[in-house]
Amino acid sequence: MNRVIAIDGPSGSGKSTVARCLGIKLGFLHVDSGALYRIMTWQALQHQVDTQSEAALAAFAPQVDVSFSVRDGAVVYAVQGVEPGDCIRTPEINQHASPVAKAPAVRTRVTNWLRDLRQLGDLVVEGRDIGSVVFPDTPARFYLDAAPEERARRRHTEENQKGIAAQTPEAVLASLLNRDRIDSSRATAPLKIADGAMVLDTTALSIEQVVQAVYANLPAAWRAS
Ligand code: DC
Repeated sequence: MNRVIAIDGPSGSGKSTVARCLGIKLGFLHVDSGALYRIMTWQALQHQVDTQSEAALAAFAPQVDVSFSVRDGAVVYAVQGVEPGDCIRTPEINQHASPVAKAPAVRTRVTNWLRDLRQLGDLVVEGRDIGSVVFPDTPARFYLDAAPEERARRRHTEENQKGIAAQTPEAVLASLLNRDRIDSSRATAPLKIADGAMVLDTTALSIEQVVQAVYANLPAAWRAS
């Protein structure tokens, strides 16, 4: 059975960068599970599905077809041959993603995709419920967190660098706190610390320090020589 490193935590906790760096260091494929919830959201909006309606999302979720391929050490996604790129990272998608990710039918679809990806190789998977629900059997479970202001600062910088619609730092913080609230309080697979997960506060740590801390706490046999 291929190995899985689960990295959970709220937005801006450093999951993506850390997961990518770890993947490169260990030769594990990077999997961004949030991007799959964003793709579901993007598709729902494109097809005028009411993102607040669990019934509408339950009917829609099984129709979304995502294809998977591996490029540059990561699993990449396409819908009907189109890779979504940054159009799944807009403020509009940010706003609708948490309601969509709350819907049990959406979660089932994404969870099944993620579990199937294990056939492709060893994985480092980032998300909210990876250690608690998707791969609870993995011995490598981590939960990253950081102060909300620092998380918002990181997201704001990232959005500016990508040239995504200008939002004030305050607006980024408000949107992020709203998503955290919905993600942590939903009934199905809420954002939480998985049993036995190692918790790391990344507020004052560099990426390299976080990567080292995760690496040092992997099962000994997994560490590259
Ligand atoms: O990590 P992100 O901001 O790209 O995630 C987008 C949305 O998907 C966010 O509302 C959290 C949700 N999500 C989730 O519920 N479970 C996951 N495993 C990953 C993301």
